[in-house]
Amino acid sequence: MPDPTANEWNEDNLQSLQSHILAEEQSHPQATGEFSWILSAIALATKTIANKVRRARIDDVLGDLGETNPQGETQQKLDVIANDIIKACLGSRANIGVLVSEEDEEPTVLRTHAEGGRYAVLFDPLDGSSNIDFSVGVGTIFSVLRLEDGHAAKGVEAILHHGARQVAAGYVLFGSSTVFVLTTGNGVNMFVLDQSIGAFVLVKSNLQIPQASPIYSVNEANCNRFPEPYREYLTWAHESDYTSRYIGSMVADVHRTLLKGGLFMYPPTAIHPDGKLRLMYEANPMAMIIENAGGRAISEHGRILEVEPTSLHQRSVVIMGSPDEVGHVQRFIDS
Ligand code: AHG
Ligand code: MN
Ligand code: MN
Repeated sequence: MPDPTANEWNEDNLQSLQSHILAEEQSHPQATGEFSWILSAIALATKTIANKVRRARIDDVLGDLGETNPQGETQQKLDVIANDIIKACLGSRANIGVLVSEEDEEPTVLRTHAEGGRYAVLFDPLDGSSNIDFSVGVGTIFSVLRLEDGHAAKGVEAILHHGARQVAAGYVLFGSSTVFVLTTGNGVNMFVLDQSIGAFVLVKSNLQIPQASPIYSVNEANCNRFPEPYREYLTWAHESDYTSRYIGSMVADVHRTLLKGGLFMYPPTAIHPDGKLRLMYEANPMAMIIENAGGRAISEHGRILEVEPTSLHQRSVVIMGSPDEVGHVQRFIDS
């Protein structure tokens, strides 16, 4: 029988996201509780989005809006619904200064540092949304940065920190179950939404990605337009009995890679010479998760988390997953 007074969580005792965050705070004496405010708002928002996603066909909110987002991509109705939900939940948290969304050209400045704005939350409200009409896994990706004094005056420049400065990152996958994966910089924890109690419950702590696994995940339709090293890697993989898995939702592809191992990548293409995925709210948060689970995340020449951003919606090449699998791609890039 587990010791109920033991501080160390084990599979036998029940811990919710809320109690996990509070336990984390207790282990950081300098923690002020500000953090759990933000994460509880993200939990509330993603439970609400999960419900909207599952009811989308019933509520007739599938399909696109006939508008484009700052990336020039067609906006799905649920992209905007998810964006509005997240801003409604986060906007009320008194310690959030700035919100950055894939769906908004400009950041939303809520409070200056003097008014209590201590954090910026950057997010992709609905990732993989082109899959939403077919009930394929989609998700929300988020990144949390600490703000310095004077951030409001500096505008976007105050948020353009490289990924290693993130204080938290995570995603919520709306798949066959609703899975919340979170890191605050010391390991990766996984929670599943228990619909019967309406709470995310801890199911795995200190997740470790497998060192190697013969699975690659890439949109091979683009392969004739990949630079030579990527084509050479794919030829090697085909000859090395690898299998291919590609869902087309980064959250779903990265989640599978985190649990089963393997490689996920979005190389340069003719349409996206710098890669398609956005640095600040797709590549960086996923890189923080993968690295905290013992994996690697590079953008061709170095860690994604060390890329110095120059614009809010800039894109990045993404090569991430099991250390050995990223090593195989890097070998071709460096040769
Ligand atoms: P979003 O739906 O937020 O625009 O993201 C879509 C991204 C990502 O989820 C996925 O890995 C990638 O687009 C798939 O791109 P391709 O369809 O070009 O393979
Ligand atoms: Mn996305
Ligand atoms: Mn999106």
